[in-house]
Order: sequence, then C-alpha cells, then structure tokens
Amino acid sequence: MKEEIHVTNKTMELQDCKGDWFFNEKHGCWCLEDILYTEKALASEFQRLSIYVPAEYMKEKGEIDREGRRKGYTAATAPVILQNNSAGYMQMPHLRLDEPRCNAGQYLDRGFVLVTCGNRGSESVDEKGNWCGKSPANLVDLKTVIRFLRHNMAGIPGDLNRIISVGTSAGGAMSTLLGITGNHKDFLPYLEENGAFMEERDDVFASQIYCPIVDLEHADLAYEWMFAADKENESSHAGPAGVMTPFREALSAKLKERYITYFNSLNLVNPVGNRWDGAEAEAGLDEILRLGSDGRSGSGYEYLMKLLNESATTYLSRLEAGTLEESFSVEDYLAGNYEHQVPAPMMAAPVKDKRKWLSWDGSRAVITSLDDYILNYRRRMKPCTSFDTLGMDSGENRVFGDGDKPFMHFNPEIGEAIGELAEEFPGEFSEECGKYYEAYMAAKGDKKLERRVALFNPLNYIEAGDSADAARHFRIRVGAYDADTSLTISMTLALKLAMAGHEVDYALVWDKPHCDADYPGELCDWVEKICGQ
Ligand code: DHB
Repeated sequence: MKEEIHVTNKTMELQDCKGDWFFNEKHGCWCLEDILYTEKALASEFQRLSIYVPAEYMKEKGEIDREGRRKGYTAATAPVILQNNSAGYMQMPHLRLDEPRCNAGQYLDRGFVLVTCGNRGSESVDEKGNWCGKSPANLVDLKTVIRFLRHNMAGIPGDLNRIISVGTSAGGAMSTLLGITGNHKDFLPYLEENGAFMEERDDVFASQIYCPIVDLEHADLAYEWMFAADKENESSHAGPAGVMTPFREALSAKLKERYITYFNSLNLVNPVGNRWDGAEAEAGLDEILRLGSDGRSGSGYEYLMKLLNESATTYLSRLEAGTLEESFSVEDYLAGNYEHQVPAPMMAAPVKDKRKWLSWDGSRAVITSLDDYILNYRRRMKPCTSFDTLGMDSGENRVFGDGDKPFMHFNPEIGEAIGELAEEFPGEFSEECGKYYEAYMAAKGDKKLERRVALFNPLNYIEAGDSADAARHFRIRVGAYDADTSLTISMTLALKLAMAGHEVDYALVWDKPHCDADYPGELCDWVEKICGQ
C-alpha cells in the first residue's frame, strides 16, 4: 500500500474513520473521500472510493440521522448510486464532486447516496513492475467495492440492497457485467486474491448502462457491417484519420459478411408489441430478427431503423413542444440553421442540413436509410479493424494482454478472414496478409486468453440463470451519434436481456455522441420508479 498517496482509512472498517467525514457547503452533502477498498491493493492510487451523502441523513461526522428525510427517502431507504469511472479499459481514479462528469448534484438533490469508485486497468503495474490490471481486474475491483460497502453498511447511509450501478463506455460494459454476474462463482478466486470480503454479496439492484463497449469478440465484425459504406475514418482516440487501403476494404467486406452470419445465428426475438412497423406480431412472421445477405434488408435491419426513427422522433417532438434545453424550431434544426445553446459534449453531432435523409411529418421522423444516415451524419470513426486492431495497439488489445505480452490479439476470426484474402492480394499484400494472419491466429486455442475475453463479455452470462444473482432492472441509453461501436452491439445486448426475462429499458438518444447519453433527469426518474418512489 502506498501510504504517501492518501491515508484516509487505516483499516477496512469505516467506523475507524468516522472523524474524516466532512460537510461540503457548496453541494450540501456529507463526504468521505479517498477510501482504499482493499488491503491487497496493487494500484492503490486507483483502488479507492468516495461517498457523498445528502445532508439530511447525517447529524454530524459519521453519525447517521435515522429521522432525516429527503424527497421521501431516509438513511435506511435511499437508493445508492455506484458510479464507476472506467474508461478505455484503463486504470482510473474515482470521480470527485466538482469534476465535470460527476453529476453528483442530480443524485443528491433527489435524496440518493452517491459512491464513486476507481479501478485498475490495462496499463496498471504493481510495485514489482508486473501487469496487474488485465481482464478481469477492472470488474473484480468494482465487485470488491460492493462487498466493501456491504461489509461497512452500518456506517453508510442508504439502502445497500438498492445499489444502482452507473457506467459509460468501458464503464457501461462494467455496469452491464455487474448487473448480470452478481455473486457468480467465476469471479470468486479473483475476488479472494484481491482481498474482497468473501462473506459479502456483490450483486446490484439495477444497472444503468451508457454506450456499452461489449461483445468484443464480435465488435470488429459489427463495425464493418455498420460502417461498410464509409471507407474513410476520422481522427479520434482510435488513431489518425485515414482512407482504407484495398486490403482493408476487402477485409472489411469479409468481416461484414461474417457479422451477418453471426447476427442471424443469434435468433434474436423481436419484442412483442414493439414491432418496427407498429403492427401486432403475427405468429411466425418476423418474430426472429434477421439480416438479409446484403446487410441492408431484413427484420434485423428494420428493427435498428425503427430504433433510430424513434430516437429522432423523440427529439423532434420535444423540440417542437419546447421541452428541450435547446430552443430552435424543428424547421431550423432540419435545415441546419441553428447554433447549440448548451455546451455540446466532445464530438457532438454536426450542425448540417439534414433534409435529404431525415423527414418529419409533425409526429414521426423517418430516416431514408442506414447508409444515408452514416454518409451524411455519423461517419465512420474507427479504421478497419477497429477493436482488435491490425497494429495490435488498441485499449482492447492491451486489456487482454498477459505476462510478458502487454498487448495481444484476441479475435482469431479476423485471422480467418485475412486468410481468405491471401490469394486476392499477391505481391506486397501477400506479405502483409501473411504477417497479420499469423499474428491473429496465435490467439486461437489460447485457453487462458479465451477465458480473459469470456469473463469480460456480459453476453456470456445473460443466460447464467441460477448461477448468478442478476439485477432486477437494466436501463441502456446510447447516443444515436455514437460511432465508438456498432449500434447493433447495444441493440443485441438489450434484446438478449429481454429474451432471458430481464426487465430492460433501451433507447438511442438523438444527436448525442459517445457519452452519458440521456435527457436531463430521466436517469433519476427511472431510479425513483424502480425504487418505488
Ligand atoms: C472506450 C471507447 C472506445 O472506443 C473503446 O473501444 C473502448 C472504451 C471508452 O470510452 O471507455
């Protein structure tokens, strides 16, 4: 433990640091910050949490007020928001009150308790210089947090049977995994090694999932299916802008084809009463979502278009009704004749004329096609390949590394697709093909690697049944302007959760990029609803 960094808690018992609670006048809340949540911390700067509590639930430093009420909640009944800060699968410190992404105000105002936590990540090293944050360390840390909180529940206001996990992107993946793998035995040895309280539970009541980067085994395939029409990628955290070489273009086509096969193998059920065309589901008709062989037809394609149309409809109806923070007319919005009045998040949707591909009849928005939407609105962000990259240099390559290999390929299906191109690309490309083929195929049959990948994919646990204590409620929100992964990744997650009998509320949020994509207040409204307020 690196004592010199922070020294709030000397033991794992929160009652020993009662005196460290302090009141923050600006936010009107009690705070306990920088708590180390495991004595076996290997990256102690990051394995910490902070607790923020509405004023009403505490009389003085660490003394819980059992009578205090806020918005109908008490110290015994208040929901507990568990905000992870996982991004890019990297090690992350926990969020603090005044940081822009913290959003503490919205939770405290509604009477919720907020816990923010940090985690190890793909680049974490221990004191001996060994990697200590590869998959599934990030998730194990978050489960360790939950067990730590429950061990110390006597000293923390809030109902720790009502933990609502919140996370975005890689953190959205973690929030999904927390929701679906509660108490699962697969993680017990890792938890023990991490110094977690083994007698406590790590399940959560609900999961809020923003822009989840999940199903990494198929994310590269899905990306090429979605962005097939766009041969240029923009400059982003995934690398510089570029135009596809003929080799990458051919590889993209192969991966798209493989995605169609994969998608169709999932046999995703079209949720009853939620058909893309609004009609009653007829027995046997389009009950199973499919992609046509061109990738731009079939009930699966139409279902995604329905989600996008609904997303635009929600936005335009609210714009027309004047209930958004922005107030320009729908006509001006469609004509690209407006300026954003609220600060836009990074990579916000561009202000452009949309009338060629987006129509509005006063009650319903319609997008002409997915390719029109991509070429005119949300262009390709990542190159081909996008997650398990040819250069083996992505965050995903790093989080699945091990031992003396900080980065590793993890998707041999890309290797197989490259193998199919060998004849098509003689000369300079055959060398390129050969090199990449060998590198990707090294991942095939590596059981330990397969395990690390499987432990990080919630789709593997959705049907875990009695093996896990799943969350009762899932809410997924994804920006319709998000191109960090294919929109079908979250769509598939939502459908698979629903098919396994989980309660899931899923929507795309128009014009929002890869972020906490939501309308103001709606996350808190959902928390109140599921917590019976
Ligand atoms: C994140 C974004 C990505 O594009 C990705 O591939 C992985 C993680 C993130 O923002 O956490």
